[in-house]
Amino acid sequence: MADQSNALQAQRAALEAARELHDPVMLREVLAVLDPARGGLFLDGTFGAGGYSCALLDQPGVSVIGLDRDPEAIARAQVWAPLYAGRLSLVESRFSALDQASETPLDGVVLDIGVSSMQIDDAGRGFSFMRDGPLDMRMSPDLESAADLIARLDEQTLADILYLYGEERASRRIARAVVAARDEQPISSTLQLVEIIEAALPKPRPGVKAPHPATRSFQALRIAVNDELGELVAALQAAERALAPGGVLAVVTFHSLEDRIVKRFLQDRCGKLPQTTRYQPQINASEPTFELIEKGILRPDESETAVNPRARSAKLRAARRLVAPSRAVDPAALGLPRIAPATPMRRAKGRKRR
Ligand SMILES: C[S@@+](CC[C@H](N)C(=O)[O-])C[C@H]1O[C@@H](n2cnc3c(N)ncnc32)[C@H](O)[C@@H]1O
Repeated sequence: MADQSNALQAQRAALEAARELHDPVMLREVLAVLDPARGGLFLDGTFGAGGYSCALLDQPGVSVIGLDRDPEAIARAQVWAPLYAGRLSLVESRFSALDQASETPLDGVVLDIGVSSMQIDDAGRGFSFMRDGPLDMRMSPDLESAADLIARLDEQTLADILYLYGEERASRRIARAVVAARDEQPISSTLQLVEIIEAALPKPRPGVKAPHPATRSFQALRIAVNDELGELVAALQAAERALAPGGVLAVVTFHSLEDRIVKRFLQDRCGKLPQTTRYQPQINASEPTFELIEKGILRPDESETAVNPRARSAKLRAARRLVAPSRAVDPAALGLPRIAPATPMRRAKGRKRR
């Protein structure tokens, strides 16, 4: 009896601690579109600290599949999941395979794209340019670390990654500096890379407020290491396969590359792709598989951005699944940047120029 009450106390303490770890962004708006009061089976494809999942589980008729590719996120939640008496199941997986997590069609899928506060705040994960740590950036251990990626890629591919995934205008200059530096010694720590980037860029003018010079490069490398945009494209299609008619897809994004993919996917699936010209309307012969719940995007309100600066760039898009069967999508049509793989030719060219 005493053992049972100790275990319960430990579970409650772990749940409380989880609530402190990460503020779920746009929670009110996400719940409004998912409408868990109707009950059903929901999949939280970016479980993190479980902020959305717990809020969904507050409704008695709801079960949740909490999915995350980060084994640490899953391990943390395993301690407190028993509090929900079988209504929360945890799955360590990529969200591109979310349709394999349930045989029962889903009533809702939510994705909150990007890194969690726990990942950013842990210097040992290597996501932050403010903390020294190994140059890692992997959300799951099966991936190649940022240090290995930087050691392997040719200069041109590195520049493409910085430009296309980070919108870094000085991509070529930074890639050149990285390649020169790695010839001297391997680049293995975050602050080592920050120094190389800072030295490659002109000094910011005094008094001019600008983002940290490594912001864009770190974003780009993180996206490349975790194939974040490819994962997103595949996840949208997986959600289309997994949702029951009437089920809702809700996606929160934090930068324009992600939002463009979600926007174009939903435009296509709702039969609302923009016309190519005024005189030649786009022919969309396929039946819509979704209908928009809210036209356009939802943004966080001021009361949220005042207390959670991370929410400032958040955008939520949501749509309801219709009965038409799912179909394949062309990733290029969704705006997925194409980065040519490092072929032996490109590698050799990169070396010659150094
Ligand atoms: C912004 S956090 C989500 C926070 C969560 N909504 C909460 O309230 O705690 C994003 C989470 O998604 C996970 N993630 C990112 N890409 C993923 C992918 N391709 N497959 C599965 N999980 C992914 C990350 O590991 C991270 O835990």
